[in-house]
Amino acid sequence: MPRLTRKATPVVKDDLPIQEYLSQQKNIVDQHLAEFLPPIEAHPEVIHQAMHYSIFAGGKRIRPILALATGEALEGEPDQLIYLACALEMIHTYSLIHDDLPAMDDDDYRRGQLSTHKKFGDGIAILTGNALLTQAFQLLVQIPLASDLIISVVEGICQAIGTTGGMLGGQAMDLTSQGKSFSHQELQQIHAAKTGALISASVSSAALLSGTSKENHAKLSGYGARIGLAFQIVDDILDAKDPSGRREEPTGKDELHQKATYPALHGLETSQTMATKLVEEAIDQLDFLGSRGEILKGLGRFISVRRF
Ligand code: IPE
Ligand code: IPE
Ligand code: MG
Ligand code: MG
Ligand code: MG
Repeated sequence: MPRLTRKATPVVKDDLPIQEYLSQQKNIVDQHLAEFLPPIEAHPEVIHQAMHYSIFAGGKRIRPILALATGEALEGEPDQLIYLACALEMIHTYSLIHDDLPAMDDDDYRRGQLSTHKKFGDGIAILTGNALLTQAFQLLVQIPLASDLIISVVEGICQAIGTTGGMLGGQAMDLTSQGKSFSHQELQQIHAAKTGALISASVSSAALLSGTSKENHAKLSGYGARIGLAFQIVDDILDAKDPSGRREEPTGKDELHQKATYPALHGLETSQTMATKLVEEAIDQLDFLGSRGEILKGLGRFISVRRF
């Protein structure tokens, strides 16, 4: 049988196509997100409506799915991991709501629907982002686990979304680099921080919860950091060019805003080669897992070939 090319749909395990795996896992995550959010009719309704609207406006759930897959590979406890998974998605959604605001990327649509500020106004959108962040930490401290482990998980997530090497620092650099020239090193630093860090933390915090050796934790973190950077490179590629026509977001916005992106610095083809290479290197870290690493490897491959 001919070897599958890299462009073919990746399989995650025993020929289960990645799309099916993602949609199964997304359903599980969505059911729990609905449970973990305050009820939509709770007073004051508007913020709860906006929280539900933004969380359920679509989304691949890649961060929670990575956390669950890491936990599964390490035989972690699903009843604990699901709290972490949902907290990660709430943090991600907060970051997107704020990212779309007029003062940031000024995007009217996300995932084919009105962005939160377009639907509810800027003020409620800011509060909704803050509310999801707060709710995420509430969930994290409720993980049924020994408190010292929870503290380590919370500390890792704070680092990943904070200002030094984390998402907030990355978003600040993203804004201040607009319209300016930038080096490859600066670009990599922005992308690793604004997107790579939370994706990496999705893997490493799940590893921490599930328990593994220091050495294996470092390998999983290395995998997470590389797929995280690749994820943002591919996001830039998809903004510059929508090869499938399936993407629901408007494209070409990065060029319009003169964002620091991989395609702007390296062109589309080299950017894709870089993303593919990063994912290959990421996958190489997982050999210690044997067949238990297949799903994480499949998720890595998905990240480099994704078209949405
Ligand atoms: C988009 O992330 C923003 C980035 C950090 C690149 P995703 O592509 O994971 O967004 P959704 O949640 O699936 O829409
Ligand atoms: C977003 O990067 C990174 C975040 C931390 C939210 P982008 O600004 O490229 O994400 P999209 O393209 O709007 O989804
Ligand atoms: Mg942005
Ligand atoms: Mg944006
Ligand atoms: Mg983008």
